[in-house]
Amino acid sequence: MTQDLKGRQTKDGIRIYDAADFGGMHKAGALAARILDDIADHVFVGQTTGAIDQRITEMVEAAGATSATIGYKGYKHASCISVNHVVCHGIPGEKTLKDGDILNIDVTVIVDGWFGDTSRMYVAGKLPRKAERLIQVTHDALMLGIEAVKPGNTFGDIGHAIQNYVESHRMSVVRDFCGHGLGRVFHAPPNVLHYGRPGAGATLEEGMFFTIEPMVNLGRPETKTLADDWTAVTRDKSLSAQFEHSIGVTGDGADIFTLSPGGKFHPTFG
Ligand code: MF3
Ligand code: CO
Ligand code: CO
Repeated sequence: MTQDLKGRQTKDGIRIYDAADFGGMHKAGALAARILDDIADHVFVGQTTGAIDQRITEMVEAAGATSATIGYKGYKHASCISVNHVVCHGIPGEKTLKDGDILNIDVTVIVDGWFGDTSRMYVAGKLPRKAERLIQVTHDALMLGIEAVKPGNTFGDIGHAIQNYVESHRMSVVRDFCGHGLGRVFHAPPNVLHYGRPGAGATLEEGMFFTIEPMVNLGRPETKTLADDWTAVTRDKSLSAQFEHSIGVTGDGADIFTLSPGGKFHPTFG
């Protein structure tokens, strides 16, 4: 990447980063992904979500990194753990996992000032057939969204790729939450919608950093937030799944910062 792009911002307020910044994001993303790899052994029937979060806190500390979520807008935990019909921002606690529960674990770490944000799905015990379909479609929808990332395409192209695929499987895309720019900050422009029309929205440029993190429901897309002001659930109580990667736009595609070092991004490791 040429030096003159350094520190530039597009007319949509999206920051353009340089080659050294990609290195910073890779270190942060790799740690977040490694933590999600290692936490797999701590997800089992009878385990509490609070114990999983405690383990994540320890892993962040052991790496000499910082949790981005502890202290963020009053949030107190190193992860969000969203079980079954919880769409996102599930608060870890006393809840015990039972056979067939599916859960998203979302971790954001700060390494040398750079933010690595990723989430994926896990299962306690035996994966029910309907949940397996939901997880597969959500995973593939994220990867299709990432395939739409290249300079000259738009954010609408990403959203369209995700929405089109999800709805072709008669599932729904959550509208109430979106991906986001990140870098030396947790949440920056743009809002990365997981639905949209081809050609809509800002144009992608080399050096943009953002997350793609589709939430997909087996039922209707509507959500509501519980009285704790964090936990978002499906209004119709249908199952929900989510996968998230942090990526950078390269000259001809996407550089995924949060790739699983152990090839464990998909819960069946496929
Ligand atoms: N990691 C989430 C995201 O993908 C944000 C969690 S904020 C928290 O953007 F405070 F709920 F942890
Ligand atoms: Co995110
Ligand atoms: Co996240």
